[in-house]
Amino acid sequence: MSDTPRKILVTSALPYANGPIHLGHLLEYIQTDIWVRFQKLRGQQCTYVCADDAHGTAIMLKAEENGVTPEQQIAQVKADHEQDFADFQIQFDNYYSTHSPENRALSEMVFLRNKDAGYIVEKAITQLYDPQKGMFLADRFVKGTCPKCKAQDQYGDNCEVCGATYSPAELIEPYSAVSGATPVEKETTQLFFDLPKFEHMLRDWTRSGALQEQVANKLQEWIEDLQPWDISREAPYFGFEIPGYPGKYFYVWLDAPIGYMASFQNYCEREGLNFDDYWGKDSNAELYHFIGKDIINFHGLFWPAMLEGAGLRKPTAIYSHGFVTVNGAKMSKSRGTFIKARTYLDHLGPEYLRYYFAAKLSSRVDDFDLNLEDFAQRVNSDLVGKLVNIASRTGNFVKKFGGSLSTELDNPMLVREVQEAGPRIAEFYEQREFGKAMREIMALADHANGYIADKAPWALAKEEGKEQEVLAICSTAINVFRLLVIYLKPVLPALAERAEAFLQVAPLAWADANTLLLGHEIAKFKPLLGRIDMKQIEAMLEDSKSKDAPAESGKAEKTAAPKTQSDTTGEETISIDDFLKVKLRVARVAKAAHVDGADKLLQLTLDVGELGERNVFAGIKAKYSPEDLEGKLVVLVANLAPRKMKFGISEGMVLAAGPGGEDIHILSPDSGAKPGMEVR
Ligand code: 2FM
Ligand code: ZN
Repeated sequence: MSDTPRKILVTSALPYANGPIHLGHLLEYIQTDIWVRFQKLRGQQCTYVCADDAHGTAIMLKAEENGVTPEQQIAQVKADHEQDFADFQIQFDNYYSTHSPENRALSEMVFLRNKDAGYIVEKAITQLYDPQKGMFLADRFVKGTCPKCKAQDQYGDNCEVCGATYSPAELIEPYSAVSGATPVEKETTQLFFDLPKFEHMLRDWTRSGALQEQVANKLQEWIEDLQPWDISREAPYFGFEIPGYPGKYFYVWLDAPIGYMASFQNYCEREGLNFDDYWGKDSNAELYHFIGKDIINFHGLFWPAMLEGAGLRKPTAIYSHGFVTVNGAKMSKSRGTFIKARTYLDHLGPEYLRYYFAAKLSSRVDDFDLNLEDFAQRVNSDLVGKLVNIASRTGNFVKKFGGSLSTELDNPMLVREVQEAGPRIAEFYEQREFGKAMREIMALADHANGYIADKAPWALAKEEGKEQEVLAICSTAINVFRLLVIYLKPVLPALAERAEAFLQVAPLAWADANTLLLGHEIAKFKPLLGRIDMKQIEAMLEDSKSKDAPAESGKAEKTAAPKTQSDTTGEETISIDDFLKVKLRVARVAKAAHVDGADKLLQLTLDVGELGERNVFAGIKAKYSPEDLEGKLVVLVANLAPRKMKFGISEGMVLAAGPGGEDIHILSPDSGAKPGMEVR
């Protein structure tokens, strides 16, 4: 790390002020928050700002529906959003609103500079108008029958049944989604931002490394067909009136990204930072926007072009993520998987979700599946079974034998190994490869637990004269624990705080991993984190079902389920993609045992190489005895969601042929196959 801290400004997309935060939103805020916390722990000067996206027709209509003014509506939603974020330990340096004086001034400035530079053009267009409500209708507010597949009640821009895109005028029997009236065509003059003028700049910028490869490729396609962008809306509209154009308002998507600047400006005024150092053309600060893949056109095309047109700097990078699915499907109210942040918090702690998101996030744009059984299993196994276990199995012996850690460690090599992993883990964080960072951390926790099990300090503690040895072993373990807590602190800040209290140390920073804790008094160990019980998850789903989901959920649910086909043999076929979802791995039976009270099952402990150990219950007792199996290679379905059985959790399935009972034949790879190898 260089000595001068990097100046970094980070944003997450601004949530609309017309509905609650849900788990789909949280992936992004948690991802960003982890990255920001990491930068701060490393000593960088990193600022994280966000705001509510408060303008637009949807918010205006929502306020009307709720019988309040738009100002009251956005104030209430902002308070709710801030509470949800705070409770998920998302720590903004400033959380503001796009309906602010700073944003008005900056939006006018960006607009006028672009206008003076010749990038704003006026054009007469024909638009649909609701004669009953007296307002022009945005595409989303016109509905009707799809001209292609004839599905009813489709939006004016695209059909959610067949995927066709069209203009609202092409809908059959269009109606206003606001009043139900039949819209009429009406001519208006609107202002357009002349995006095609920026083609050259955008070609260069999108290839400059500012975008993930998948996103850059997508944008290249769009750059082939740039169109002027309509940035004005007619009254009634909740937003900022355009200077020089009475009765016309900035389209919400013009002033939304400028809201990033406005929130930061508001922060600068309070904290004495220099706004121009960050946004001026020659800024040497880094600027990152974390967003969802659905809004890359706004951030990857319009936004850099508007900034350029206004003589401001462009983002250093835009980091996009995919959508959240729950249990492999779109979030759905009827399944109870449209889970609001608040509903989640009513049943489960925020750190579980933060960890699970981290454990599965990468730098790619892929969608993210929150599999609820896997969630519980992973959190329990990693955080409780591995991390906290290190301290809970050793902390109390320190207390018992004097209360202070020893000055010499029993296993300095182990501690060294954990310290040496620090730079690797830091690089994973930096690259937003959080999943890789978590795997590395948990592998170190496994080593520590293996070491503790080998040394069995609880047995030694019963022997005479072994106090110093026990203390040196437990001090080794506690030092590893402390290092792992440092590495996990961006993800689990509150757990880190509880650990700091236990260790009786000041708030830990990343550089503290270079030092050890020797001859230091620690507190009595108190449980740091409880296990998730599937019952909590079930209760959360029930609760979600019975509470109203916001309007967007209707959209999520409408998509037709993919159809399966039958081939001529009568066997239902699946796509190659479906098949590739099943991850098969070679495993070695490390241990096989009878299960008390089960007459068909054997309990198998499988060594799956780099994936570690898995516990699997297999119904093969009628044919095999434990001795037959130990050492044998088998094929494991490695990504089957863990299942809770009467005797414990089964973490996968072993492949076997035959109908069952005594007529069952385990499939075994050729000798030479190694545990952990993928089977194709
Ligand atoms: O898609 C959305 O939810 C928008 N409210 C995001 C705005 S991000 C930024 F540009 F303001
Ligand atoms: Zn259609």
